[in-house]
Amino acid sequence: MGKLLCFPKCRFGRVFGWLQIMLGVLVIIVSISTLSRFYEAGFFLNKDDICRHFYSPIDNYEFIDFRSLKARVDEVLDKMESLQEKLESTLQRMDNIPKLEYKKFLKNEVIKPLYDAHIALRQIRMPRIDENDNTTLKEDPLINTFVIEEIRKYITPKENRVGKINIYGTEKIYNTVGHACVLMKKELEEYMDYEIGSYCKDDWILGQKLMINGCDPLPRRRCLTRASKLSLKPYPINESLWRIPEGRNVRWSNYQCRNFECLSSKNPKRGYSKCTGCFEMDKEKLKWVTNSSLPIDFTIKDVLGIKPGEMRIGLDFGFGTGTFAARMREENVTIVSTALNLGAPFNEMIALRGLVPLYVTLNQRLPFFDNTMDLIHTTGFMDGWIDLQLLDFILFDWDRVLRPGGLLWIDRFFCKRKDLDDYMYMFLQFRYRKHKWAIAPKSKDEVFLSALLEKPPRTL
Ligand SMILES: *[C@@H]1O[C@H](CO)[C@@H](O)[C@H](O)[C@H]1NC(C)=O
Ligand SMILES: *[C@@H]1O[C@H](CO)[C@@H](O)[C@H](O)[C@H]1NC(C)=O
Ligand SMILES: *[C@@H]1O[C@H](CO)[C@@H](O)[C@H](O)[C@H]1NC(C)=O
Ligand SMILES: *[C@@H]1O[C@H](CO)[C@@H](O)[C@H](O)[C@H]1NC(C)=O
Repeated sequence: MGKLLCFPKCRFGRVFGWLQIMLGVLVIIVSISTLSRFYEAGFFLNKDDICRHFYSPIDNYEFIDFRSLKARVDEVLDKMESLQEKLESTLQRMDNIPKLEYKKFLKNEVIKPLYDAHIALRQIRMPRIDENDNTTLKEDPLINTFVIEEIRKYITPKENRVGKINIYGTEKIYNTVGHACVLMKKELEEYMDYEIGSYCKDDWILGQKLMINGCDPLPRRRCLTRASKLSLKPYPINESLWRIPEGRNVRWSNYQCRNFECLSSKNPKRGYSKCTGCFEMDKEKLKWVTNSSLPIDFTIKDVLGIKPGEMRIGLDFGFGTGTFAARMREENVTIVSTALNLGAPFNEMIALRGLVPLYVTLNQRLPFFDNTMDLIHTTGFMDGWIDLQLLDFILFDWDRVLRPGGLLWIDRFFCKRKDLDDYMYMFLQFRYRKHKWAIAPKSKDEVFLSALLEKPPRTL
């Protein structure tokens, strides 16, 4: 009886065993033949040899990113090696494996890695060599850094249909990613690992982590983003500006809180620390309208009064729930508010109030053209932690987008008292007209600085 039961299984095992051995041999043949092709192509020679090998008299080889090319070849080799080891060890314990497990093993441990390795090998881009042009060793930037097909598809420039020039007057479109994506390859690969057309994972927080760490811009994705199960229509604008929105319009899964009420400053486990109280409308309603005892707090009325009727559009570079933009809207000024979802759904909150959130980090050049904004207001985001050179690049960018006669409102910037001179120099270097300038103590060795500065005309 036992023997009879065993019979088909055992035979099956033997057949599969042979199949695996054959597969293993196949893998080895494929890898050897592919690699030998690489060898013929000169990829295992050192740099000078490669140079001679490819382009005997020419010396343009620095255009190829050999390091990333080598990394990719190494990656494929590693895959092949581990596959081989797995096959060998499975061969050893083969008799005890049931059929289903065989199938799973073949599918996950053999066919998938084989396929991946195959794709990876195929996708290594050889530099294009144009006989007539000694400069065209064309290698698309970054392309050989990544293995995941979707990332490679994204960063590969998309050439127009043959012979056509697009509206930009170029022959192809580059999709860009931040260069620090290279440092976060694993996370980026996780982010870009999805089935095209199906639902994305609920992983915006991974995307934000990538962005904050310099993988910014992030690649676009071809999966459907998740939304809250129950999306209610927003409140009308005459109500939405000053009302806590409907919490069910937000996906809460990556926050400590599960509703807007929980984000109150009284709750020590609210999950964010930067603008405590900014989800409480009674507190927010006091900002920029009530006279404060501190000279560093300017009111919107005072600021707009400096240039009556001139302020129409602007940027609030800060951290909060859009209250500055709400107040300005009441003054018929359109403000775009930067927001990151650091610990709370700031973007959703601003949008549900009927204002425009701009999801950008400090990393990026502002997506506005030169001399276009009437006003830049900044509060609560940059303070004394910021590197001076970074601040310098940011301030020059702000100067770029501000129009002549536009206002830069630095609102409660704070730093160590001993660093104040450095920062003051940064803010004053542009020789803006000083409308307001106030310093007040924050703590024993920290100070606040507020300033209202006007960009002068530049007649050059
Ligand atoms: C290409 O090579 C020619 C002659 O070898 C040289 O004069 C020319 O400057 C090279 N072109 C570029 C763009 O380097
Ligand atoms: C807001 O406007 C709508 C129609 O425009 C009106 O029915 C509603 O009463 C207004 N709400 C408030 C609080 O004024
Ligand atoms: C704030 O102070 C200004 C003058 O300094 C005064 O005109 C204004 O009425 C005050 N506003 C409030 C709300 O107290
Ligand atoms: C804003 O514009 C509306 C419509 O033009 C006008 O009725 C209102 O008085 C303006 N508000 C301010 C503060 O200028």
